[in-house]
Amino acid sequence: MPIEWDPEARQFHLGNGLMSYVMRVLENGWLGHLHFGAPLAAGRSYAHLGGRAFHGFSNRVGEPVPLELPTAGSGDFRVPALVVEQADGSIVLDLRYASHAIRPGKPDLPGLPSTYAEGDAEAETLEIVLVDDPTSLRVTLRYTLFRDRPVIARSATISNAGAAAVRIRTAMSVSLDLADADWHLVTLSGTWARERHVEEGRLLPGRRSVGSLRGASGLEHNPALVLRRPRATEEDGEAIGLSLVYSGNFLAEAEVEPRGTTRVRLGLHPDGFAWTLEPAATFTVPEAVLAWSDAGLGGLSDASHGLYRERLARGAWRDRPRPILLNSWEGVYYAFDAARLVDMARAAADLGIELFVLDDGWFGRRDDDASSLGDWVVDERKLPGGLGPLARDVEALGLRFGLWIEPEMVSPRSRLFEAHPDWAIGIPGRQRTESRNQYVLDLSRPEVVDHLDDALTRVLESAPISYVKWDMNRNITEPYGGALPAARQGEFFHRYMLGTYELWRRLTERFPEILFESCASGGGRFDPGLLAFAPQTWTSDDTDAIERLKIQWGTSLVYPLSSMSAHVSAVPNHQVGRITPLATRAAVAFFGVFGYELDPRTLDEADRAAVRDQVAFYVAHRDVFQRGRFVRLRSPFEGDGNETAWLVVSDDRRRAVLGHYRMLERPVPRFDRVRLRGLDPAAIYRVRPWPASLGSGQAARGGDELMTVGLAIEPADPLTGFGRADFSARLFDLEAT
Ligand code: GLA
Repeated sequence: MPIEWDPEARQFHLGNGLMSYVMRVLENGWLGHLHFGAPLAAGRSYAHLGGRAFHGFSNRVGEPVPLELPTAGSGDFRVPALVVEQADGSIVLDLRYASHAIRPGKPDLPGLPSTYAEGDAEAETLEIVLVDDPTSLRVTLRYTLFRDRPVIARSATISNAGAAAVRIRTAMSVSLDLADADWHLVTLSGTWARERHVEEGRLLPGRRSVGSLRGASGLEHNPALVLRRPRATEEDGEAIGLSLVYSGNFLAEAEVEPRGTTRVRLGLHPDGFAWTLEPAATFTVPEAVLAWSDAGLGGLSDASHGLYRERLARGAWRDRPRPILLNSWEGVYYAFDAARLVDMARAAADLGIELFVLDDGWFGRRDDDASSLGDWVVDERKLPGGLGPLARDVEALGLRFGLWIEPEMVSPRSRLFEAHPDWAIGIPGRQRTESRNQYVLDLSRPEVVDHLDDALTRVLESAPISYVKWDMNRNITEPYGGALPAARQGEFFHRYMLGTYELWRRLTERFPEILFESCASGGGRFDPGLLAFAPQTWTSDDTDAIERLKIQWGTSLVYPLSSMSAHVSAVPNHQVGRITPLATRAAVAFFGVFGYELDPRTLDEADRAAVRDQVAFYVAHRDVFQRGRFVRLRSPFEGDGNETAWLVVSDDRRRAVLGHYRMLERPVPRFDRVRLRGLDPAAIYRVRPWPASLGSGQAARGGDELMTVGLAIEPADPLTGFGRADFSARLFDLEAT
């Protein structure tokens, strides 16, 4: 059994040979944390591993063991995982073990997204009940161990079995005490158009945190963090990953205390959070996923890619090949009518593109971003007869049809706002802050969720719609739940997320054949929470190939390529003005869910031929790009960042594609070989450069040689060959013979 309970040692050991998580019920009934990390042998006591707690209050704690669920005010002065304000205003809790159960499989979390098991054999779940006697507060800690993955999913339910209401002030999804502070903290941070850059630094005494108070996980930080040993690399060394299956306000934090131990915590951001728990009520915290690897950051990414692609994403599109799309946004923005769109779709069909997506501008009177959000009714000036005729014309060309929506928003200039001004989030008597000329709808109110459900169901039933891009383009200001009493305003942000998830759930369940893609000004809600509903996300509004190297590299630390959509756009690039070769733009966008975002009618014959070749290449390798193993080779965040290299490898290791990118060309380049990873050392690979016109012919190379000696990436003739230009990319197509 992967979850072992030893009644003698009062020890829980969750171990699957890939990693171990060990806890012990202490003599006083507290739940102590002994170990998370390297796999330990089953059937042994690890009680001695606990002696590293930070407190000198021995009358309360017989054993100096860090706690699984640290609370505030009784000797552990580090950041707490649970703070509950009681009827008398105090916050001290004394949570003691009451019972536990070990069950096959993995339960769902009510109202919240989570990872899942298919069948009971895949995972086992441990539930431990802790009780605070004076208040009768019960906390059920839930740990799911996946049989074949080095991950644990953790969540908790807090129940008020007492007679008085209490108020939850802090309820983290995970708190993890590590025995030392010899770690680098890695976060994914940035802003609009440069999301999820890798930021990293040594842990120092005190606290370091990232988080969001915007009502969305945000462009600025991602609800994930990684700890790696200073010497760990992409392929080697110890690393721990934590991510939160949640899309709203979050806190991810590491604290180092004077004795040199580290506490990491991740969960709902406590700032502004207060949740009243009436007698008999329960509150469930979002799920956190913990992963451990001794194969470096790459090993950690393998674990989260597999889990998130296979057991977080769900529905018909989880495993289906994702279509190559053309999105209308950068091609025509708001300037279109049906004829122009059908012309674009015709040009796209001629290139082999499979799905045509109509972005913003099709509803209300939306000729710019100043109006109409909330009025989900077709603008008949542009699309006479509605979406049906357009979608059918597109389908007649052999493409599927997709549509952009932004359900959570309302424009002040809209019929919806005229009819229901109180549905827009705001505080009565105070001015609302506008952002992109819009307000956010109060999805903490069930009637708003019901309205959006109806309005969008009508849209999605009005035409053959195969794909939906669900956008969210501003964050919440003047947070206030219009239907919540004053004492419950601290619940607003989380209730907003619960309402949003409810809308996602209804629409994705009602339209199971639609492929949903999430978006938030690009990657402003690229998080595990939304991946549970939409298997792919618009990675960034920045479509420049060079900027995308960093964005896609950083994103890949946690998220699989099947979740990252990536488009080839026109040059000069609309975000940074850079001019890059068309082949480079494709060579970057291939490593994700591929598409185009330009007006195909403007391409000349040579570019059209090149795009046809790109589409054919992606189709031929789609399975490897979307389901293969992604291996990072050369980081754009290291050195001067001039070079990036990465690779995808099929599961059977018979096929692979290597991408090598150089930002600026320099005179007299060094002789350079890229060492590959993840190939079959015994196989002989046929190595072909792509596009064929830029290559120097094919070669046969052993997997062992490619991984130990490497592959020369310079052209055969360094003076005349490919590579003598800035922003170059070289792709190599590898196939075992
Ligand atoms: C956001 C999205 C873009 C596009 C526009 C439309 O910025 O990230 O891709 O859909 O909205 O307004």
